[in-house]
Amino acid sequence: MNQETRIGPAMDIQAIVDAVLSDAETYRGHGEVANYIPALARVDPRKLGIAVALGDGTTYVAGDADEPFSIQSISKVFTLSLALGHVGASLWNHVGREPSGSPFNSIVQLEEERGKPRNPLINAGAIVVSDQLIGHRDADAAMAELLDFLRDRAGVEGVGIDENVAMSESTAGSLNRSLAHFVAAFGNLKNPVEEVLSVYFRQCAIAMSCRQLATAALYLAFDGVEPRTGDEIVIASRARRINALMLTCGHYDNSGDFAFRIGLPGKSGVGGGILAVVPGTGAVCVWSPGLNAAGTSLAGAIALERLVDRTGWSIFV
Ligand code: DON
Repeated sequence: MNQETRIGPAMDIQAIVDAVLSDAETYRGHGEVANYIPALARVDPRKLGIAVALGDGTTYVAGDADEPFSIQSISKVFTLSLALGHVGASLWNHVGREPSGSPFNSIVQLEEERGKPRNPLINAGAIVVSDQLIGHRDADAAMAELLDFLRDRAGVEGVGIDENVAMSESTAGSLNRSLAHFVAAFGNLKNPVEEVLSVYFRQCAIAMSCRQLATAALYLAFDGVEPRTGDEIVIASRARRINALMLTCGHYDNSGDFAFRIGLPGKSGVGGGILAVVPGTGAVCVWSPGLNAAGTSLAGAIALERLVDRTGWSIFV
């Protein structure tokens, strides 16, 4: 479906974004902030922001949409895009493509499935993706590539790592260390565990705003092409497949409910951000730090639900 049919001349996106923010207002501050990462436990739970980026380069924002927050697992979508560019389909020898139905940091399936994580969006899978992204380089080179990619995609210089969060992740990182060692024990990591985790912890600690994330994800809405420049960022089939993984696995054991309520490929992060892709139209990012039990922003998911109701942007329409 082309953009015109999905946006329509009568659709006032700014008015819709403003209305969505007030729809979600009742849920501001609801849910629990991610207190297992001490630096995230200190974030103000009442933050609420939304940004919609469209293919023509326009962006519509409301609330705290320009305040950088910890992107956390949203980073997994970008490392997946880059790792696939490096290693292509051989990535699937190391990580699966099925929903896990388990929490993001679960270890239980890894033993039965011999160290091959179910999908690239759970923590164990993202750790494998980070390893593949490092490849034969060092961790800093992989991080530099990721940061350059995000700066280019978001069109801003100022995308960086919140070192405080990165340190906090590592200090509180016993479970992720266990996942990485478990994967390594089955021979599924090329690089030393701490090298791989130094990328994983830092990618999660990248700080970006809703506006920057929505803009950065536009290539996923347009068959891998950056709509404003025509540059191919990933090949079309890859963009489609990343969207399929976001739809089926992007919210872990909450992915079915998210697809049911919102009907868009999406990726949550425990910083309270949710990135959603509206194929052929644009990308949306919402942020509110209070989380539901699966680590998805509670008010953020409500905002997306209301946005889809008001726009008809579900892919199942
Ligand atoms: O590794 C972790 O647990 C966090 N750095 C990221 C988890 C996350 O964002 C889960 N998503 N909702």
